[in-house]
Amino acid sequence: MFTLNQSAQSFAVDILSKNGFSQKDDPSFYLRLTQSIDTIAFLFGEIYGHSYQANQFFEELVLTIAKANQERGNDLKQRDKSKEESGKWFLSNDLVGMSLYVDRFSGNLKSMETKLDYFEELGVNFLHLMPLFESPAGESDGGYAVSNFRKIDERYGTLAELIDLRKSMQKKDMYLMLDIVLNHTSHRHEWAEKAKQGDKEFQDYFYMYDDRWIPNQFDASMPEIFPESSPDNFTFVPECNKWVMTVFHDYQWDLNYMNPAVFRAMLDNILFYGNLGVDVLRIDAPAFIWKQTGTSSQNLPQAHTLLRLIKQCVEVATPGMAILGEAIVAPKEIIKYFGSGEFLAKECDFAYNATHMALQWDMLASGETKVMLAAQHEILKKPYGTSWITYTRCHDDIGLGYDDYMIAQTGKNPYEHRKFLKDYFTGNQAHSPAKGALFSSNPKTGDARISGSLASLCGLEKALEDQNEFSITLSIQKIVLMQAHSFFIGGLPIIFYGDELGYTNDYSYLNDSGKNYDNRWMHRPVMDWDKNQKRQNSGSIESQIFESTKKLISIRKKLNVVADHNNLTWLPPHNIHVAGYLRKFGNQKLYGVFNFSAETAFLTWYAFKEHTPIPEKLLDHWTGQEFKVGLDHEYLIMEPYTFHLFEPIN
Ligand code: GLC
Repeated sequence: MFTLNQSAQSFAVDILSKNGFSQKDDPSFYLRLTQSIDTIAFLFGEIYGHSYQANQFFEELVLTIAKANQERGNDLKQRDKSKEESGKWFLSNDLVGMSLYVDRFSGNLKSMETKLDYFEELGVNFLHLMPLFESPAGESDGGYAVSNFRKIDERYGTLAELIDLRKSMQKKDMYLMLDIVLNHTSHRHEWAEKAKQGDKEFQDYFYMYDDRWIPNQFDASMPEIFPESSPDNFTFVPECNKWVMTVFHDYQWDLNYMNPAVFRAMLDNILFYGNLGVDVLRIDAPAFIWKQTGTSSQNLPQAHTLLRLIKQCVEVATPGMAILGEAIVAPKEIIKYFGSGEFLAKECDFAYNATHMALQWDMLASGETKVMLAAQHEILKKPYGTSWITYTRCHDDIGLGYDDYMIAQTGKNPYEHRKFLKDYFTGNQAHSPAKGALFSSNPKTGDARISGSLASLCGLEKALEDQNEFSITLSIQKIVLMQAHSFFIGGLPIIFYGDELGYTNDYSYLNDSGKNYDNRWMHRPVMDWDKNQKRQNSGSIESQIFESTKKLISIRKKLNVVADHNNLTWLPPHNIHVAGYLRKFGNQKLYGVFNFSAETAFLTWYAFKEHTPIPEKLLDHWTGQEFKVGLDHEYLIMEPYTFHLFEPIN
C-alpha cells in the first residue's frame, strides 16, 4: 500500500520548498493544499498505491498542482475568490446556457465575439463551446478525438483568440464551459503515434495487446457503444501489430488510467484548461475511464475514485472551475457521479439530467406522465450543493436510458413501450408527426437511441412539408413546452444552438464522408444568419420560438425560487397527462404545470391545495394572467401542450 514516511502535509510542503515554491507567494494556495493533501494522498493511494513508483508519482502530482496554481492568472484568482464568496455560484437561477459548435455557429473564435450581442439579446450567459482542440478532419467525432490537448484546431483559430473571447465574455458576466476528453485520444495524438512506432512507454498509455486473448475477455462483457459504425471494442494496429482498445470509434484510443503517468498528464491538461479561464469543465465520458475484464467497464468504483481525485486537485489548483461529469448512464448510476458515502457532493458538481431529458420525450410521445414519475425517486437523490444540467436536446442522441422496471411499474410492457417510442420519433407510428432517426441500433440487443432536432422531433419539419398551419402552431407549442419544463425543474438549463429558432434536421451530413456514418449530424445545424434575422419579423416561426425562449429565460432569471436549492416536489398525478411540480424556497413558491397530451386536460384545483398556505390566486408568469383557485371539484382547464408557471398570490 502507498505509504509516505512522513505526513502527507509535510511531504507536500517539503517537495514544494525543494522546488522553489514559497508559502508566502500564495498563502491561500498553501492553505487549500494542506487542507486537502491527506484526501488527495488517500485517493491517489487507492488507485496507484501498489505501483513501485507511487512516491515518485505522488511527488509529481503535487508539483503539477502547484505549478498550475502558480500559472493561474491574477484575474482568474480574483474570480475564484468572488465565486467562493458568492457560495455555490453555479446553482443560481441567473444562469442559462447554450451549447454550440463554433464553426457551425459563427465560423471561428474571432467571429464569436460578434455574436455576444445575440446571446445577450436572448439572455444566454453561459456558453458550452463544443471541442475546439486539434482533431483530425474526417476522424474527429465532432472534436471528441483529440490529437493535441493544447492546440486549438486551425479551423477555429488560436489559443490567444480563445482567451480573448473568454475575457470579452467575462466583461459581460458570461461563463465558459469546455470539454476535456478524458477517456481517449485520437489515434493521431503524439502518444498514439509513438505507440504505433513501437515505443513501449507510450504503448502503456493505452490498452494494447499482442493478440486477441485479453481483448476477447473484455469483449465478453463490454457493450458496444457505436454498434453500427464501430462495432468492436478493439482495433488492430498494423503499424505495431497489436490490438488497441477503441470503445467509441476505431480512431479513438482508450487511455489506460492504470498507468499513473496517464493520470498525471491528463490532470495537467485539466488544470491547463482551468487556467484558460474555464468556469465549468465538462469531463467527457467519465463512466468509461476504468476498464476491467468481467465487467461492463462502465461506472466502476475506480472511475469514481479518479473523479474524486481530479475534483480535489482542481479545488486546490484552479478552485473556480466546477466539474460536469458527462455520465449518460442508468439513473441509479448517474446519481453516483455526485459522489457517495464520505465523498457525497465531492465528486462532480454537475451531471446531465439525461434521465429526465429522455422522460420528457417519453411524456411528449405518450401524452402521459406515468413513466416519468416512476423514475423520480432516483433523480431526487441528488445531493445539496450539486446541480443538474437540464436540457431537451444536445449534440448527442437521445438514449432512453431509464430502467425497464420504471416502465413496468406503470403497467406497460417495457419492450413494447420502447418500441412505441422508437417508432414514434422516427415517424413510423401512425399518428406521429416526428421526424427523427434511430441511432446506434444494435440488432443483437434491440437497443437504439434517437437522433433528430428539437423542432423535427416536435413535428415542425413535417408540418412545414405539409404546409399545415395548425400543425405548425402545435409543433411550436410543443417546442416551448419542452423548453419550459426543463428550464424550471432545477439545474442549469443548456439550450442546444438552433433550437431557439426552430432549426429542423439538416441532412447535408449525408454528403460528407467524414460524417455520413453518424446521423447525430442531422441535428447539428450550420447557422444561417439570414434565417436567424427572421426572428425580428413578428409572427414568423423563428420569432415565435425565439421570443418564447427569451421570455422563458427572463422569467427564470426573475425567480430566485428556481435556483437549484434541491427544492422540487412533484405534485401528485391528479391528471395523468399533466406534469406538475412545486418549487419552494422560504416563502417563495412556483407551481409549474405542463399538459403533455394532445387533448384538453382538466386539473382539479385541489392540486394546489396540498401544500400550505393554500393560495387564493395564482399569477401565471407565462401568460401574465391571474387565476382564482377554485373549489376542489372545479378544474383548471389546460389546452393541449400548454403550461403555466404559477406564483401564489393572496
Ligand atoms: C461523449 C460525447 C459524444 C462522443 C463520445 C465519445 O458522449 O458527448 O459526442 O461521441 O463522448 O467521445
